[in-house]
Amino acid sequence: MGEQLRRILEECEGRFVSGQEIGRRLGTSRAAVWKQVQGLRRRGFGIEGARGAGYRLLGRPDRIDEQELFSRLSRRDFWKSFVYFPVTDSTNLRAAELAAKGASHATVVCADMQTSGRGRMGRKWESPPGVNLYLSLLLRPPTDPQHAPQLTLVTAIALAAAVEEISGLRAALKWPNDLFLGGRKAAGILAEMAADPDRLRHVVIGVGLNVNAERSCFPGDLAEKATSMRMLAGTPFRRVEVLAGFLDAFAECYGAFLSGGFRALLPEWKRRDLLAAKTAVLRRREEEVRGKVLGVDESGLLLFRRDGAPRTEAVASGEILEFEG
Ligand code: BTN
Repeated sequence: MGEQLRRILEECEGRFVSGQEIGRRLGTSRAAVWKQVQGLRRRGFGIEGARGAGYRLLGRPDRIDEQELFSRLSRRDFWKSFVYFPVTDSTNLRAAELAAKGASHATVVCADMQTSGRGRMGRKWESPPGVNLYLSLLLRPPTDPQHAPQLTLVTAIALAAAVEEISGLRAALKWPNDLFLGGRKAAGILAEMAADPDRLRHVVIGVGLNVNAERSCFPGDLAEKATSMRMLAGTPFRRVEVLAGFLDAFAECYGAFLSGGFRALLPEWKRRDLLAAKTAVLRRREEEVRGKVLGVDESGLLLFRRDGAPRTEAVASGEILEFEG
């Protein structure tokens, strides 16, 4: 019961379908459609119903269930709170809001779907329901504000370790915030902090990881540039397992960072550095410069030598637009 309805909702990939249209396709009344919707909800399908619009699928039973998540975590001691939204605008916004209300360090905010997922440089982050991970970590680290950007790299290392462990794939890291699988971007990190001049109030680290997205999930030219764990491994993954693996790996990496600084994790970055020794175009503020990437230093800065320049620069923020070699 409900299988045909499931297919109709899945076909529509998160868009509303009217009860009348479903009833017509199933050959049943709208009341019978509603009963089937209830049945699917009991089986764990997230279905939103809106007067006048109909129904839409928010998530399939690859559920990010809090109970299951915590039962899978080895580092339950580290994580203090888990907040889940079937749908929200952006988990980074929700986490910042919780931080302002005094939420504790080590709060995880996760959503099945985002309506305004945000990427770096004001870009959009594609966040369809039921397939990927969208989460934000709220941290209150005893770190100088100037060291906070290193947490982006720490998070990337933890994500790479978890993805590799669960999928057997090899992950590569593109400074400062991208995870690549098979030469394409599979995850991005957006860290946002609130700080007084000498004190960090909190950091929100947003992570978007393409777990089970298929090629058709990526619109336009993203289809050529993006990938997912599933696309590379040829098999789907349960998001709750990937999430638990990442949260465990993060707790470990964060501990190493607090006791030994980014230097303690540098070998983990170097092992996966996508850019080291590549010729590249770096965008920094309004400027685009061509040169060579030499790696990342003990403070997480990008070591870059412009073409023809006598010295190497240590770059704190910017973006590599192109690279080769
Ligand atoms: C990037 O590569 O540009 C960073 C993407 C970060 C996306 C994640 S998804 C969860 C969190 N909420 C957001 O709105 N953005 C981050």
